[in-house]
Amino acid sequence: MKQVVSLDINGEIHELAVHGDATLLSVLRESLGLCGTKRGCDSGGCGSCTVHVDGQAVYSCMTYAVSAQGRKIVTIEGLSTDGRLDQVQQAFIEKGAVQCGYCTCGMIMTTKQLLRDHPHPDDDTIRHGIAGNLCRCTGYHKIVEAIKTAANA
Ligand code: FES
Ligand code: FES
Repeated sequence: MKQVVSLDINGEIHELAVHGDATLLSVLRESLGLCGTKRGCDSGGCGSCTVHVDGQAVYSCMTYAVSAQGRKIVTIEGLSTDGRLDQVQQAFIEKGAVQCGYCTCGMIMTTKQLLRDHPHPDDDTIRHGIAGNLCRCTGYHKIVEAIKTAANA
């Protein structure tokens, strides 16, 4: 059975009917068309679906949409301001940290929290911080460089 939920996403309130077992990932992508958040494993193992809920990076595939009511949700679409990319997005582009791009949105959302918790992280802190986000393409080196660049921006 569906129930009506009110979700605060990127500063906008969305009211919609969802099944109790609908994940935040499925609601973002399939109900709201916010497809920057990617579905990879759909089981909490890859990080491609990472969004922020009340400022914490979470796997949206492992989060029920109903549990996100009354909380502030931010997706990759919510990072830019007045058409300008966020400094982490910009750094990923500048450093060539994007190849196929499938992991990138989740990686950037995780990086946002990492830099909030550790404004000037060393390499070990960065690699530990992004350990829950898998990238099959880059070998991580350019991602680490991009995160250091964003930290110094
Ligand atoms: S799709 Fe959510 S962790 Fe992989
Ligand atoms: S850029 Fe392809 S998975 Fe990371």
